[in-house]
Amino acid sequence: MNKTHAAITAVGGYVPDFKLTNKVLETMIDTSDEWITTRTGIKERRILKGEGQGLSVMALRAIDDLVEKSGKSMHDVDAVIVSTVTPDMPVATTSAYIINKIGAKNAFGYDLQAACSGWLYGLSNAATMVESGRFKKVLVIGGDKMSSIIDYKDRTTCVIFGDGCGVALLEPNDEGYGVKDFILRSDGIGREFLKIKAGGSMYPATAETVANNEHYVQQEGQQVYKFAVTNMAEVAAGIMERNQLTATDVDWLVPHQANKRIIDATAKRMGVKDEKVMLNIQRYGNTTNGTLPLCLWDYESQLKKGDTLIFAAFGGGFTWGSIYLTWAYDPK
Ligand code: UT7
Repeated sequence: MNKTHAAITAVGGYVPDFKLTNKVLETMIDTSDEWITTRTGIKERRILKGEGQGLSVMALRAIDDLVEKSGKSMHDVDAVIVSTVTPDMPVATTSAYIINKIGAKNAFGYDLQAACSGWLYGLSNAATMVESGRFKKVLVIGGDKMSSIIDYKDRTTCVIFGDGCGVALLEPNDEGYGVKDFILRSDGIGREFLKIKAGGSMYPATAETVANNEHYVQQEGQQVYKFAVTNMAEVAAGIMERNQLTATDVDWLVPHQANKRIIDATAKRMGVKDEKVMLNIQRYGNTTNGTLPLCLWDYESQLKKGDTLIFAAFGGGFTWGSIYLTWAYDPK
């Protein structure tokens, strides 16, 4: 009997309309379009405006987009994974709210926090669930409202991050297409280099933590860069080697969009040419859990049935990993 694979059968995405350009940032902090462009590759990022607007607003719009394009029903979805570092609220899982909104009466769900590798981890979890035969339709949502945890006076972080959300639907596939392999890694050495210090159980919120700006993302960029550039490239090359894939076998590299230089180094290590690398960092910046599904959303019309995709991500914690997948459908 053929092995059942978990294939992506539809994708959707949403980015807010408001664009925060490098030129505008020049008026807010001591930076320049030239610095941001050469160090990161970013030109602009999207920001979700409005009081009471959380991640679920973007996630539901991304799901609407998926439904509109694919015609897939959401009522029989049986699991929803929301990969994010910015859920609507702590404790109350955003996934449950989304399940209610889409009318998936028999679904269960959870939020998954693995920093920038969250969606990659979520995709691997969902694939295992589908391959088990117990789950037939699993939504993997990845997104963040990074503007809610960024200090717009801190030039070392505010130029990098943006808001956005993407979603993929996973279903069983008996033709051999779908998730073929994954490598997932983590190392707590990264705990101090990329974090929000307060608001967790170690340092609960107090007037003092708020006054000290300890509820915003803090990053030691160079340290993170050093680990990211090596590990993301190694794990992407590692999954190719383990599956006897050469650079010509790879149709697309789908890399986390944290820094164009890290993406270039990963592609170089894999031997993959620039035109096979999905890139949208220039338009959205680093949307954390949104980067990978938003790449699929942007490039969906170029993907063909049977294409070989290698995903690679690196994030806080540290967390990182790679997924090897074959695409299951032609453009509509
Ligand atoms: O997605 C999760 C994982 N995160 C990552 O993978 C991010 C990894 N790190 C990076 O991408 C890079 O380290 C950054 C883009 C964050 C920073 O680039 P860098 O080339 O590592 O810069 P740096 O931190 O070494 O700073 C170089 C200089 C410093 O000035 P001095 O000390 O040389 O005078 C900074 O103060 O650039 C200065 N600087 C800036 N200048 C203008 C830092 N931020 C800015 C800025 N505009 N926005």
